[in-house]
Amino acid sequence: MKRILTGIQPTGTLHLGNYFGAMRPAIALQEEGEAFYFIADYHALTSVQDPARLREYNLGVALDFLACGLDPARASFFLQSDVPQVTELAWILTTVTPMGLLERAHSYKDKLAHGLPASAGLFTYPVLMAADILLYDSDVVPVGKDQKQHLEITRDLAVKFNETFGETFKLPQPRIQETTATVPGLDGQKMSKSYGNTIEIFADEKTMRKKIMSLVTDSTPVEAPKDPEGSNIVALYRLVASPEDVATMEREYRAGGVGYGDFKKRLFGAVWEFFAPMRQRREEILAEKGYVDDILAHGARQARASANHVMQRVRKAVGLREQP
Ligand code: ADP
Ligand code: TRP
Repeated sequence: MKRILTGIQPTGTLHLGNYFGAMRPAIALQEEGEAFYFIADYHALTSVQDPARLREYNLGVALDFLACGLDPARASFFLQSDVPQVTELAWILTTVTPMGLLERAHSYKDKLAHGLPASAGLFTYPVLMAADILLYDSDVVPVGKDQKQHLEITRDLAVKFNETFGETFKLPQPRIQETTATVPGLDGQKMSKSYGNTIEIFADEKTMRKKIMSLVTDSTPVEAPKDPEGSNIVALYRLVASPEDVATMEREYRAGGVGYGDFKKRLFGAVWEFFAPMRQRREEILAEKGYVDDILAHGARQARASANHVMQRVRKAVGLREQP
């Protein structure tokens, strides 16, 4: 069976961009093979350096993923840091990693350009990510476009290792989610927590309504026709409303006579309804004490079993003693 693996960093509260761009497609793949999904909390340490916040984000991401349909009976769901062997593999991989490969990494260069202080952890981030993938003999890795280069680095390191020490790692295939359009944020730019323009999936009703009503629009008067293309209201509505409702909104945009305020109210209603079953599931999970911890503990046991297997191979290949 194909092993499908992906990770998400717990660096904030999940928003509609994360849902449509990453969570929904990853969750859909759990039907196609043996899925391993993990919360990349070691990676998060490169930007979250507040223990209470890290714990809160870890739990929040776990809860939100389960509420959104990750099925623990099909997928192993775990915290990256519950399988510390990944750091051992990352170390071994650094020894075959050319400096230049990391120096060319876009995400590292982007983060520097945005003023993030450059720790060695940030620099070697792609090596830890390669370890995440290679440690579990992953076949398919679904990720957003922004992670494409990290997948190329992973493949390069696997090839380099195999050439140096003999066939050890399986080469993973990236599955780049090109089809998911970028979800726009409140200001029309890409929705991202770093731009402060997000709509959180599980915001309370008042907060979500307020956010949606604050969507930035142009100043076309109520009676004038409006262009649905390029409208962030319509773009978001397309994600959550039925095709008929979308067609109605587009028609009313073109005809004029309806103001942006009305469209936003309709959008709020549709978003709220879209996530209603997931909100309910979230409440049920919250009411079941220990549920999330149990799932993560179970996932970690499965992940560790697979990790031990690969690490024996790796240790042997490089000449380290196999673990007793
Ligand atoms: P943020 O930009 O808020 O920091 P992350 O980079 O942590 O979000 O996002 C995790 C994943 O969610 C990304 O790899 C990407 O696939 C997806 N994602 C985030 N924002 C969007 C968006 N606006 N549209 C589509 N996908 C998104
Ligand atoms: N770097 C990824 C991101 O920011 C998260 C991640 C860490 C990941 N390790 C991974 C994704 C392994 C896929 C496979 O989105």
